[in-house]
Amino acid sequence: MDIPSHSLYLIPDLPPADAILPFLQRMEEARWYSNFGPLVCEFETKLHALMSAHERQTQARAIHLTTVSSGYHALELGLRVLGLHRGQRVLMPAVTFTACPLAVEHAELEGVLADIDPATWTLTPTIARSAAQHMDIAAVMPVAIYGVPLPTSEWDEFSEDTGIPVLLDAAAAFGTQHLLHRGLVAFSLHATKPLGIGEGGILAGRDPDLIARARRYSNFGMIDRISQVDGTNAKMSEYHAAVGLAQISRWTQIKGRRKELFDLYRQYLEPLRGTLSLQPSIETAVASLLMLLLREPIAHNVLTDARESGLALHQTYLPPLYSHPYFAHLTVVNMHGAAIDEGAKVAMRKENMVNSENLFKRLIGVPFHSFMNEQDVALVVKNLDSLLSF
Ligand SMILES: Cc1ncc(COP(=O)(O)O)c(C=O)c1O
Repeated sequence: MDIPSHSLYLIPDLPPADAILPFLQRMEEARWYSNFGPLVCEFETKLHALMSAHERQTQARAIHLTTVSSGYHALELGLRVLGLHRGQRVLMPAVTFTACPLAVEHAELEGVLADIDPATWTLTPTIARSAAQHMDIAAVMPVAIYGVPLPTSEWDEFSEDTGIPVLLDAAAAFGTQHLLHRGLVAFSLHATKPLGIGEGGILAGRDPDLIARARRYSNFGMIDRISQVDGTNAKMSEYHAAVGLAQISRWTQIKGRRKELFDLYRQYLEPLRGTLSLQPSIETAVASLLMLLLREPIAHNVLTDARESGLALHQTYLPPLYSHPYFAHLTVVNMHGAAIDEGAKVAMRKENMVNSENLFKRLIGVPFHSFMNEQDVALVVKNLDSLLSF
């Protein structure tokens, strides 16, 4: 595969067709294509083993999980089973993917967008505590931004102290994000994520009842074909589980490749340390994106110039969600927890969301995918260096 490192910032790394074929043949023999078939069950068992091994290092309690059709559905189902009431507020960071406020809206709740912490680029328990002092917050959805896992003990403490449930969006942090003791964690298996299978998601936690309810919700709320509660169709198909089973056996290889690439970038970016910095704690992630914080607020110009020179830079999760027309009506909360009036002018909202705006002005993402080699990394960094020298 001959892919110019310049022209694409992300290329999915999924298993080759011949590795998926044996699983598809099993599916064909069983004539079982969805509804928690043998491949989905086997995939869940393997996911459970991987996640339990990771948790064991922290000597945690048993974990429970259910697969779903997407990371988005893991979020929506998570919200559905937390026992919230229609119209209650869910706090989330302003810098995240649109799936977060959409899941909140579709679960008949009201999203509130919080400014982020400048040190971690995400919504922290400190910000959430301040917000909860200013308004009623029924649940919090922190996000493991760009796949960097969040500290679970702080969020468990938050939940214990405030009684507010937490649904952690760890979309891109499979393999590194530990589970909460008190809340739920959602993962995405979208093609762009480290454990990509095309489309898919996982909802995981320690409470077997919550996970069982989410599983039932994902299958029309039925038990023995009788509707007991509300529901939807968010099941993972056997086709996706077939890809998942082929992909999970490549997990060590995927992690290794990403680590190699990350180490190369770190080495090549070292001379540029005066003009940019890496994402805080990025070394704790299985990186799927590599985001760089420029010292100067020139991201917009750099992106424009890069486009002209053919270098594929990006600003994933930016601009912040309150700048998207569809989410412009949502309440925003600054880093001190104070709500900015819903009727406030756009400029005033931006003025208050200091850290989100700062990220928008300074953050760029560079090409990062398994098909890059050392020359590609060297070329990207050389081009970036020349763009930053103007
Ligand atoms: C932070 C975040 N949350 C949720 C999602 C939704 O996941 P999916 O695409 O699997 O529905 C994504 C996907 O990119 C994401 O980045």
